[in-house]
Amino acid sequence: MAEKGESSKSAVKGLTAATNTSGLPAYELPWVEKYRPQVLSDIVGNEETVERLKIISRDGNMPHLIISGMPGIGKTTSVLCLARTLLGPSYKEAVLELNASDERGIDVVRSRIKSFAQKKVTLPPGRHKIVILDEADSMTAGAQQALRRTMEIYSSTTRFAFACNQSNKIIEPLQSRCAILRYARLSDSQVVKRLLEIIKAENVEYSEEGLAGLVFSAEGDMRQAINNLQSTVSGFGFVSADNVFKVVDSPHPIKVQAMLKAVKDGRIDPALEVLEELWALGYSAVDVISTMFRVTKTVEGFSENTKLEFIREIGFTHMRILEGVGTLLQLKGCLARLAKVGMRKELFVPKS
Ligand SMILES: Nc1ncnc2c1ncn2[C@@H]1O[C@H](COP(=O)(O)OP(=O)(O)O)[C@@H](O)[C@H]1O
Ligand SMILES: [Mg+2]
Repeated sequence: MAEKGESSKSAVKGLTAATNTSGLPAYELPWVEKYRPQVLSDIVGNEETVERLKIISRDGNMPHLIISGMPGIGKTTSVLCLARTLLGPSYKEAVLELNASDERGIDVVRSRIKSFAQKKVTLPPGRHKIVILDEADSMTAGAQQALRRTMEIYSSTTRFAFACNQSNKIIEPLQSRCAILRYARLSDSQVVKRLLEIIKAENVEYSEEGLAGLVFSAEGDMRQAINNLQSTVSGFGFVSADNVFKVVDSPHPIKVQAMLKAVKDGRIDPALEVLEELWALGYSAVDVISTMFRVTKTVEGFSENTKLEFIREIGFTHMRILEGVGTLLQLKGCLARLAKVGMRKELFVPKS
């Protein structure tokens, strides 16, 4: 028995073992890094925007750029791919990459960025040095102000690329100097497609429900989907819905769905049972209510009208919970109101 366990373990190690730049074997390279796209055409989704970046990468003369959008949808990756394609072998000397973990106060902007902008690097025509400021919305307004002149004075040799979650956190004067590209949340099918590629490359055993669970909990965030996939595999070896929801530690949507279906039919007791079960497992009111919201959005067998009414009630309860009243009673009250909505529909809209 023990021997079998040993050998299968080393087989897995052999599969994931990769060598990093230092030449040392890296056993568990995070899959998000291992499968980070290296070229623009490998980036999933946001086709039109990526197409624009491809044109820039072909023609050169990159404008100052802001790429904004939710976390985990490929912003940093896109900027890195773009810089790599544009600069190729000169990447090391012609790119300055700063993210939120680097010091980026006014002093750094004045000294480090400015001296990089002044540095002489010989590049082919139409190519510029690139300063990548990742997670730029976490830079102070003062530091952003200090960039204004630098961006202008050195724009013949140096271009800036900002990646951020919210473009409105970038001060107006910088926005007006940049082309703003917005990335949209990835669709479920795009996430599934990418996950399946990784599943295949890593020989992961999975069930359809497990895959659906990963997609449900990621909400369009590819990084989260890939991380949860890896955690499930290393924790349980098999990607089933149960294992996925243990890893992401959120209420099982199947249970929540059963609860919502019960209240829709006006059966409050079974719904309360599910709720109490979830509560006993230690989920907080926010966990429960936000899962209720997401399940309602996609649940089958509810009329559009019922869904909207449900979302309204769930929304009000969510608000109260965020105000600090995250009690079991609050959630029970919500279920009672939903049951009322369900019954009203039954009585007055017999056609739907
Ligand atoms: N559009 C995408 N296509 C393929 N992989 C993606 C995409 N978006 C994110 N990923 C995966 O998630 C990881 C994090 O992506 P990143 O570009 O850093 O996200 P962010 O938008 O937060 O900057 C990448 O290493 C990659 O594995
Ligand atoms: Mg990023």
